[in-house]
Amino acid sequence: MWEDHLLPRSLNVILGAKGVRGHREDAVAGLQGSVVEIGFGSGLNVPLYPAKITTVYAVEPSSVGRKLGAGRIRASSIPVEYVGLDGQELQMADESVDAALSTFTLCTIPDVARALGELFRVLRPGGQVHFLEHGLAADPDTANRQHRFNRLQQRVAGGCNLDRPIDRLVGEAGFEISVLKNDWLKGPKVLKPWNYLYKGVGTKPMRAGRQ
Ligand SMILES: C[S@@+](CC[C@H](N)C(=O)[O-])C[C@H]1O[C@@H](n2cnc3c(N)ncnc32)[C@H](O)[C@@H]1O
Repeated sequence: MWEDHLLPRSLNVILGAKGVRGHREDAVAGLQGSVVEIGFGSGLNVPLYPAKITTVYAVEPSSVGRKLGAGRIRASSIPVEYVGLDGQELQMADESVDAALSTFTLCTIPDVARALGELFRVLRPGGQVHFLEHGLAADPDTANRQHRFNRLQQRVAGGCNLDRPIDRLVGEAGFEISVLKNDWLKGPKVLKPWNYLYKGVGTKPMRAGRQ
């Protein structure tokens, strides 16, 4: 009940907050052509998609998330097509999309290296993955708390991890990190373990070889 019904609805509200919107705008800026978005959720990025995007291929396992996203898709001039349920196994051909987007999703996908490997596979050489994620904080005090709370977080938040080093994971998949900004979501100090952000862009090299 919690995970299938209430969690997607709660995330739609929490991640739809005003304070997150500006970070989303940064994450989608510059996307163009065909884009695969993993962990599409309730489509909170849809109203912010730049006009140069031609099609979005959405991957989302939650039926409630897809239902909540329906209105946003209808209101958008950019077509959104669902192409599967699992970012770890994309139903897409090699080098078939121009760009990829992941917001607050690399924390949750169980085998994140595999999902990033899939993005690397389906992106054309020179294509970019744009990401906005929360993850392992740079300051040791917050990082320690993230490690401590991680198991509980996974249990109550649908498998979400607090302590993934997002830039390292993106780099290990073979992407060259061309933009990276760490930031904090605004909020009380006690929420610091949840609020450390990674905003960036990873580029698939023209001559790609996974590391
Ligand atoms: C915290 S929510 C973020 C949703 C959305 N990206 C956003 O920014 O609001 C994480 C999303 O990842 C989805 N997810 C979980 N496992 C997944 C998987 N294996 N492949 C793709 N998406 C997954 C969840 O269903 C959920 O919608």
